[in-house]
Amino acid sequence: MKILIINGPNLNLLGRREPEIYGARPFDDFFREMQAQLRHVSLEYFQSNHEGALLDKLHEAGFDADGIVLNAGALTHTSVALADAVAAIPAPVVEVHISNVHSREPFRHHSYLAATCEGSIVGLGLEGYRLAVEWLSRRVHISRKLEGNE
Ligand code: DQA
Repeated sequence: MKILIINGPNLNLLGRREPEIYGARPFDDFFREMQAQLRHVSLEYFQSNHEGALLDKLHEAGFDADGIVLNAGALTHTSVALADAVAAIPAPVVEVHISNVHSREPFRHHSYLAATCEGSIVGLGLEGYRLAVEWLSRRVHISRKLEGNE
């Protein structure tokens, strides 16, 4: 089972960027821990600060992966193109935000992605990524069982 985590702009700075909001842990460190814990999942990670690269990755993985966890950072609040890409691909996408965007500035309250994603997890820190991966892997098992492939 293949699940991809995609992080958007500025999320390469996790651990160093506004730690009072996003925490002090570098994402790579958290990702390695998750890989070790979720051995039944082939977990991949992609980060880019460029909208086009994120679109290309969604197009590439969206027809192949069993699920995608997407934190598009600030592009969440601006990008119709990313929302269209999520709508265009068959892989289920879960939107994650580390911070509680609803308790922050009003411009962070709206997500162009939310309507095309299967669900959203906000405000639970890095733990949100783990919950999203666990949900996607359970979802794959459920649909495989329904299809009689397990
Ligand atoms: C974020 C929230 C966005 O509003 C912000 O632009 C980010 C990070 C989060 O994970 O809390 O870059 O997506």
